[in-house]
Amino acid sequence: MTTLEWIMTDFGVTEYDNELFELTKDSPYGHFFNKENRVIRSSRDLNKFLDHYREHGAESCYIYTGRGPSSADMHLGHMVPFMVTRELQRCLRVRVVIQLTDDEKFLFRGEFTLEQYTEFAQHNKRLILKAGFDPELTSIYIDTEDIARFYPTMLKIQNRITFSQVHAVFGLESSDSIGKIAFPALEMAPCDPRCLYSSSKNMRCLVVCAWDQDPFFRLIRDHAKALKFNKPSLLHLNYLPALDGQEKMSTTGSVSNFSIWLSDTPSQIRNKIKRAFSGGGATQELQQEHGANIEIDVCCIYLRFFMRERDAYRQLTEAYQWGLIETKDIKPITASVIDEIISHYRN
Ligand code: TRP
Repeated sequence: MTTLEWIMTDFGVTEYDNELFELTKDSPYGHFFNKENRVIRSSRDLNKFLDHYREHGAESCYIYTGRGPSSADMHLGHMVPFMVTRELQRCLRVRVVIQLTDDEKFLFRGEFTLEQYTEFAQHNKRLILKAGFDPELTSIYIDTEDIARFYPTMLKIQNRITFSQVHAVFGLESSDSIGKIAFPALEMAPCDPRCLYSSSKNMRCLVVCAWDQDPFFRLIRDHAKALKFNKPSLLHLNYLPALDGQEKMSTTGSVSNFSIWLSDTPSQIRNKIKRAFSGGGATQELQQEHGANIEIDVCCIYLRFFMRERDAYRQLTEAYQWGLIETKDIKPITASVIDEIISHYRN
C-alpha cells in the first residue's frame, strides 16, 4: 500500500476526481484542476463545499491558505498553493484569507529570532500580494500582529482539544514547549468564519494546503460541530520537486540551491535549470534509443505544473519520450516558462 492509499483508507481522504475542472475551464491555469497533471492530490468534503457554493453563492464561501515564513524570500514550490488559490478566486469570485505563521516558525524552527520571523512574514506578505489576488476579496494576516482577531476562537478551540489529542496527531511530547502545544489552535482558528466575517452565518471554508498540513484540519473537523461551525473542506496539493529530483524544494541549508527563488535573475534560472535532474541515458545514443522518462525528469515535472499551452506541452513531452528531442531542447523552454512566472515578483 502506498502512503497515500494508507492515508486515504485510514483517515477518509478522497482522491481528487476533477471536481473543480468545469468551474475553472476559463482559467489560464485551468490545467491545475485536471487530475492528470497531479497538482492536486486529494480532498475532503470538496463536493460539500461546491454544493454550498452553487446553492448559496460566492458570498457564503471562502478559501483559507497560509505559509510559515521560514525565510524572507520564497521559492517556486511555496507559490503553488497561492497560484491555485488565486485561480480559484478568479473563477469562483470567493474571498481568500491568508495566514502567515511567524509564531509557528519561531516555535518550531527557532533558527532566527522572533523579530526576524516577523520581518520575513512582512516581506512574504508583499510577495504574496503580487501573485494577483483580488485586493477587494483578499486578507492577509500575520499571527503576531493580528492575533486579537483569532484569539477568542483560538481559546474556544484550546478549551476543547486535549494534550493527548495534540500528542496523537502531531507527535508532540510532554518535553515539548507549551508554545508548540498551544500553536495548532491558531492555525485552525480561521476555519471558523466568525473570526473573519461579520455576516458569517452558514459560511463554508475550503482550505487549500500542501498535503502535510492535513493533521491540523482533520483535528478541527472533529470539533467543528461542537464549536458550531461548518466543517472545513480541504484541497491537498502535491509538492513541487527540487532541481535535483528530491521530493520538495527546501528553504534552508545548502540544498536551498536546488530551489528556484522568486529573487532569482533570468540567468540564474537558466543556470539552475541546466543543472536540473533529467534521469536521462548516460550517452546521447542511449537517450535517443530509450527516450526520456518524463515521470522523473524535473523539467518535465515543472512543465506539467506550469506550462499554460497544454497542446504544446503534450507534443513536447511526447517527442521527448520518443527520443526525438533531447534534454538540451527541453531546458530552455522550461527556463522561459518559469521565468515568466517569477517575473511577476521582481521589484
Ligand atoms: N503551517 C503552514 C506552514 O508551515 C502555514 C499555514 C498556516 C497554512 N495556516 C495555513 C498552510 C493554512 C495552509 C493552509 O507552511
